[in-house]
Amino acid sequence: MTVLKTFITAVVGIFSAATSANAIMNGVGKLPVMGYNAWNAFACNVNETLILQTAQYMKEYGLLDVGYNHVNLDDCWAMKNRSATGEVISDTIRFPSMNNLTDQLHALGFYAGIYSDSGWFTCAGYPGSFMHEEQDAMTFQSWGFDFLKYDNCAIPFDDIIREGITGKYHRMVDALAVVAEKTGTTFVFSLCEWGWNQVWLWGAHMSHSWRIDDDIAPHWKSLTSIINSASFITQATNHYGRNDLDMLEIGNGDLSYDEAKSHFTAWALVKAPLLIGTNLATISQEMLSILKNQEIIAINQDPVHGTSISPFRWGINPDWTYNATHPAQYWSGPSENGTVFMLINTLSQPADMFFNLTESPWIRAGIQYSVRDLWTHTDNGTAVRSFTAMSVPAHGVVVLLLKEDGNEPAGLMPPCAGEALSQCTAEDGTRYS
Ligand code: GLA
Repeated sequence: MTVLKTFITAVVGIFSAATSANAIMNGVGKLPVMGYNAWNAFACNVNETLILQTAQYMKEYGLLDVGYNHVNLDDCWAMKNRSATGEVISDTIRFPSMNNLTDQLHALGFYAGIYSDSGWFTCAGYPGSFMHEEQDAMTFQSWGFDFLKYDNCAIPFDDIIREGITGKYHRMVDALAVVAEKTGTTFVFSLCEWGWNQVWLWGAHMSHSWRIDDDIAPHWKSLTSIINSASFITQATNHYGRNDLDMLEIGNGDLSYDEAKSHFTAWALVKAPLLIGTNLATISQEMLSILKNQEIIAINQDPVHGTSISPFRWGINPDWTYNATHPAQYWSGPSENGTVFMLINTLSQPADMFFNLTESPWIRAGIQYSVRDLWTHTDNGTAVRSFTAMSVPAHGVVVLLLKEDGNEPAGLMPPCAGEALSQCTAEDGTRYS
């Protein structure tokens, strides 16, 4: 781990010396970060012992082995006041030594993340980094952190800031570039801006990920609302920069097993960061098994395709309808190993879900496909032209990986499938009808 980190740091260091701040930020974080964030389970009730205990659980439960290799602090780690020389200070009782914390996390095999704010204060009222960007970035570097989440609370008055939203965040990007030049350390930088100012249009110029919506809550209503927001901006996501749908609430609140599976699937397949926000001391084996679905994690971490899945049909609503209760239901996208489909049943009762294969732009006409179910982990035969998922549970999900499996049988009628039928034409110009 240390060797790897030194190597990455060295490579990025060489890279950064000759490039702009934007390129530096784009030089890290090719794939979505996976790990833990302490906010949703513990809010301000955090301390070093709890964080290290959480890291132990991540190791013990095999979460580190399947890729969850970040442990990130969120708000409330600091003293309320800076030092006389303006340094931010970690809470002397709860976080007596940040260096000790990051050393121990690194020794366990994790990267360590910290949190600050682009305004005067964090959302919980601790010191923000506005006008202290470089000083704080140096402090975080000297404490051994690798990742920085940067929030949007306590925005300074217009006549002080005299910047747009991109300028406000870029102040820290510039500071991190200075740190990289001085020390060779590069942070993974994660914007938390809640989608106020179309962050999906500019986030990629400066960060690994950007929050697109309000804080998640552990209820189905919150999940569908976030999925609805994501459905319209999937094009923003690719390797090195992506929509962040907020933390994983698997095992929290009133989410059922089927709802938790839908939650994990949607977050993983839109290539969002996968940051667990559950108390691992009390999580059930059933919920843990959702977080550890390696076939779905493999799609989130696809080294070839960084793009998100996208809806090809909204389903209950006409296409492109904004509906926070019934978001788009039929999604697909390319992956290293085939075309992936996600079908979400937003109804409160089971439903059959049908699609023509060529509704997905990633499917080839005239080819049949083998079908693998990424939740049952079974091969489910061959799909010719269409597929129906029977009895998808209420608020449940089906994930299928389709691989080319030779030509479809000869002589199938009609000669064109799906939408192509309305333009289906023989070489001599005869229209099929
Ligand atoms: C905001 C963010 C949350 C969390 C809290 C901490 O609400 O959106 O994710 O970081 O601040 O105060």
